[in-house]
Amino acid sequence: MIQVAVMGYGTIGSGVVEVLETNREIIKRKTGQDISVKYILDLREFPGDPHEDLIVHDFSTIEKDPDVGIVVEAMGGVNPAYAFAKACLLAGKQVVTSNKALVAAHGTELLQIARDKNINFFFEASVGGGIPIIRPMVQCLAGEQILEISGILNGTTNFILSKMDREGQTFEEALKKAQELGYAERNPEADVEGYDTCRKITILTSLALEKEVNYEEVYTEGITKITDTDFKYAAKMGTSIKLFGSSRMADGKTSVFVCPMMIDRDHPLYGVSDVFNAVMVRGNMVGTLMFYGSGAGKLPTASAVVADIMEAACHMTDNVPLGWSSEKQQLSDVKEMRFRYFIRFAGSAAEKLADVEAAFGKTEIIELPGMDEFAVLTGEMTELKYHKVAAAFGDIRQMIRA
Ligand code: HSE
Repeated sequence: MIQVAVMGYGTIGSGVVEVLETNREIIKRKTGQDISVKYILDLREFPGDPHEDLIVHDFSTIEKDPDVGIVVEAMGGVNPAYAFAKACLLAGKQVVTSNKALVAAHGTELLQIARDKNINFFFEASVGGGIPIIRPMVQCLAGEQILEISGILNGTTNFILSKMDREGQTFEEALKKAQELGYAERNPEADVEGYDTCRKITILTSLALEKEVNYEEVYTEGITKITDTDFKYAAKMGTSIKLFGSSRMADGKTSVFVCPMMIDRDHPLYGVSDVFNAVMVRGNMVGTLMFYGSGAGKLPTASAVVADIMEAACHMTDNVPLGWSSEKQQLSDVKEMRFRYFIRFAGSAAEKLADVEAAFGKTEIIELPGMDEFAVLTGEMTELKYHKVAAAFGDIRQMIRA
């Protein structure tokens, strides 16, 4: 029998308890163990809840109980999740989390403690919710040199951009809908400003490179400046706009960024809509792979947490290496990154195109009827060059990387 404590009885924590109960027999058959929940830590009371008697309010109850072998951290945020997760590992308890903020900020240290203690710190659910991505990256792609990871890693922003794309909604209208449906947080900053995607691409890059990536060094831009007009141009061009978290490894350099990208219909991530997530991984031998599915939500995320609990149950006294060391990974400056640029200019193409091309080089021009503006798609150039030329040119209404 393995006793589990669940910290945080919100959406994910309650989902974990539900999955453990619903799939009890499958879990027992596959692990050879009865896995049962001994405590649920939460500040709140849950009168009438079927697990009311398992609720505790004091973390030390879990920390000090030698019978608890695995602790699920489903509180979210860095504090007190970090202190609690660390204390559990130091007490010899395995920790499983869905918390990307915790993993991105303290993954290196928590993994080291787990190694030192011959136990595990697992976080499959922290990226892509129910999509298997961490374990495939670490195990199935162990022999690959990873060249690129590009993902749509945030369901809320993908829902908003899909609404803008398909229904012509404004950002504000689509955000309101996402909030009504419970996808976006009441304070949606972490989603729409790209911070959530930043944490997730940081975790994937650390695993791919087996080094520590500092999420604070990742260039991060959200979707708040994307407008319905941008999508009108995108429709005419046969493209779409998606929030990407990407890392590209080439010539000994690593570029990691989060920003809206204009992508063609033939891009593998073009068809990923609504709240779905997808991760495209390109390896030097395997080529391009796609991982697709429910990137958030109670049961998909809880399913990934439970898979981690089961893996932990099969490795109670040995560490499964995830290959994420404390060596720091140097990241390229965003100024060195190369993109094509979709740019909207005030005025008419007839008057300005020659000047635009003199500044930005040969472009593709896109015009919409009845607009006092036009757009171009440039060739590839560095961010440094783009910003120099754009500052000198002025009069730019929008820029989206492509
Ligand atoms: N807010 C996140 C999303 C939840 O919308 O994808 C899952 O990490």
